[in-house]
Amino acid sequence: MSLFYDPSNPAVLRNPHALFARMRAEDPVHWSPKLSSWVVTSHALAESVLAIGDFSSDRLSPFYKQAEATDRAKLNEIMRYISLWLVFRNPPEHTRLRRLMNVAINPGVVAGLQPDIASIVDLLLEELKGRDEIDFIGDFAMPLPALVIMKMLGVPRDMLFKMKEWSDDLINFVGSPRTVEDKYERARRGVIAMADFFSQLVAERRAQPKNDILTYLVEARDEQSALTDDELVAAAMLMLFAGHETTTNLLGNAVMALHANPDQWEHLRQSPGSIESAVEEFLRFDGPVLSTARVVARSHELGGHSLEEGQRMFVMLTAANRDPKVFDEPDRLDIGRKPNRHVTFGKGAHFCLGAPLARLEAKTAFNELLKRFQRIEVAKPIEELDWIDAMVMRGVRALPVRLHR
Ligand code: HEM
Repeated sequence: MSLFYDPSNPAVLRNPHALFARMRAEDPVHWSPKLSSWVVTSHALAESVLAIGDFSSDRLSPFYKQAEATDRAKLNEIMRYISLWLVFRNPPEHTRLRRLMNVAINPGVVAGLQPDIASIVDLLLEELKGRDEIDFIGDFAMPLPALVIMKMLGVPRDMLFKMKEWSDDLINFVGSPRTVEDKYERARRGVIAMADFFSQLVAERRAQPKNDILTYLVEARDEQSALTDDELVAAAMLMLFAGHETTTNLLGNAVMALHANPDQWEHLRQSPGSIESAVEEFLRFDGPVLSTARVVARSHELGGHSLEEGQRMFVMLTAANRDPKVFDEPDRLDIGRKPNRHVTFGKGAHFCLGAPLARLEAKTAFNELLKRFQRIEVAKPIEELDWIDAMVMRGVRALPVRLHR
């Protein structure tokens, strides 16, 4: 049977791994007519595409140029900020933005956040006291990283649901969903609301600096320049967006993986010192980012195919993470796995700036969950869960669980 990758197929959404195994073995650089894009599935090719200069990270400009005139009007306001996200930039702009953003989010800053993260975890779990059935996503995995990043940016806690709403709107543009009506209009609304909010906050920090990362960003300087007002607003939006949807799904996917592998949950309870390798394995086994995209920057050959300048490529991180050439028994959840060369945070110049934060949040969350609960049981058949239909995010919209104390 010939290969056909339809990411929206409900069976593939739920479990893409068997199909990815075939693609990796038979055609690791696969042309998908459905996506009008190349789809890369092997670990070695994923790493090389992410590391080398034959591919551009600017997937917005070609998309904008091709958009219909009516869509383009809606896209203008979105592009004003999103085109400034360093994840969509190439050197030298990328290098400059990354150097400046690194002042605000780096391993030192993140280590100092440990007490804040622990108290947010504690607060959320205290609020769950007396409840045995919860929505793990809505009640814990969504608010935790959102509240952490909001605290870092100096956004008041009562803005949580507003932030979530704006971010959900924005995901219609950057998350590459396939089945949302009116997605550009919703994304435009979210961007405008977020931009208004963060412009005001940036002005406040300029007038009165505080001890938060927005102030660090406002004050960041390199030899040539500082971030402009639009770049500051864009950076805050990116942190808010990148900083929570991903970690939410890391926690949710990990709970599903542990539910299916109760021996690994027990193992972790018995040896809490394994938490670091366990988090790496959660990132690998069914990570929260399905793919990241690139554009072919110059025509060349790859995997026996001719790639033409301007064509789009999806690097399937979820597929690379199960490559048997790199991981023994890749379909097995092994919380002690070492080494673990997953590519869930990307590779090369764009390697996730928030990786230390995501790791710390997951570690803190699971340490506390393991202390408080004997078991976390998914309370709905896995086949009935509602998976996010998008190329970037991988996770479920809600995750009903039973907490065994
Ligand atoms: C489990 C959680 C996370 C995962 C799996 C993840 C994954 C990724 C990946 C794959 C990239 C590279 C994209 C590419 O090469 O096209 C990336 C970039 C980035 N991430 Fe994360 N991320 C996570 C959490 C976070 C958090 C918590 C933050 C911030 C607070 C963050 C901020 C960023 C930024 C700013 C970039 C752009 C870096 C650059 O382009 O130089 N991420 N992330």
